[in-house]
Amino acid sequence: MKNSVKMVISSVFLLITLVAGPSALAQDKTVNDGVFTAAQVETGKVVYDSTCAACHDMRFYRDTLKSWDNQPLLWLWESIMGTMPADNPGSLMLDEYTDVIAYILSENGFPTGDTKLDPDAGMDTINIVSP
Ligand code: HEC
Repeated sequence: MKNSVKMVISSVFLLITLVAGPSALAQDKTVNDGVFTAAQVETGKVVYDSTCAACHDMRFYRDTLKSWDNQPLLWLWESIMGTMPADNPGSLMLDEYTDVIAYILSENGFPTGDTKLDPDAGMDTINIVSP
């Protein structure tokens, strides 16, 4: 009798751990964990080619990502949104900035995944790593 109560209690704890687990791990995410989708990369490329390509080549972003190593991805998003394109800062839609970042990450070798990159959902817990 006592043992079966223990069993029930420990299964309840196991269940709680399973449900709470992913969010507890969110803090440890990096751009290596498939944090943007292939569709975002595709739209991002179109935006990139028309609004960013004239001033920067991909080599530039490689160096930029290196210098942002270990910083939250949201901070880079905010920085780009506030200052780029240099001739018209803030002129893109929020989604377009997000998709451009997905494209830049993809071009630098980071993998796509099933979850959309979203500045309102956990982008502050995704860290940049050096490409
Ligand atoms: C008219 C030219 C121009 C355009 C267009 C432009 N940039 Fe820039 N960008 C600059 C200049 C100038 C700098 C600052 C000097 C530098 O770091 O080389 C810069 C800096 C940056 C940085 C470094 C910021 C940092 O804090 O490390 C990033 C990232 C960046 N641009 C991304 C973009 C993206 C994404 C786009 C398209 C949405 C874009 N730029 C469009 C000229 C431009």
